[in-house]
Amino acid sequence: MSSHQPCGKGIGAALALLPALHAGALALVLGLAAAQLHAQELDGKALFLKNCAACHQASGKGIPGAFPALAGNGFVQGKSSEVAAVLLKGRGGMPDFSDSLSDRDIATVLSFVRSNWGNKGTALSESEVLELRESLQVEHYSHGQMSNKH
Ligand code: HEC
Repeated sequence: MSSHQPCGKGIGAALALLPALHAGALALVLGLAAAQLHAQELDGKALFLKNCAACHQASGKGIPGAFPALAGNGFVQGKSSEVAAVLLKGRGGMPDFSDSLSDRDIATVLSFVRSNWGNKGTALSESEVLELRESLQVEHYSHGQMSNKH
């Protein structure tokens, strides 16, 4: 008996491994898709914590008399274009985010706000925000760069 493995057996083993490789690749793809979904949720939350929570609070409950609660707020869960307009144009003591957040960021953070803390509003898409920007004649997002024309 030679300890040397016949070539055929090696190929057989490799062939036997193929389905396992496929399963592995599939699991990897599914895993990536799940991670991407998760990242989107996190993005919404991260965007909210970074841009909104100072006033509206991480709990979404705001500060009575100063910053309205977004949690359980009927307006917030209502017509998405009206909610997005507040971000694009600002209102009262609320700054406008038209030049600090991209259409995608606005859609992502509002989708988060509208579906968190028990809120049941629908998600917004980047293209809805873009259309709204156009109809409100708000300048396009310039990647946070202020125009610097002198
Ligand atoms: C500097 C404080 C401040 C920050 C930061 C801020 N807001 Fe506001 N927000 C306000 C105030 C004040 C109002 C009430 C405006 C008014 O007087 O109509 C408001 C109103 C709103 C409303 C309308 C609520 C209603 O019932 O009419 C929404 C929606 C909203 N904010 C979302 C956000 C989101 C999303 C962010 C982050 C991207 C954000 N805000 C960041 C202060 C802030």
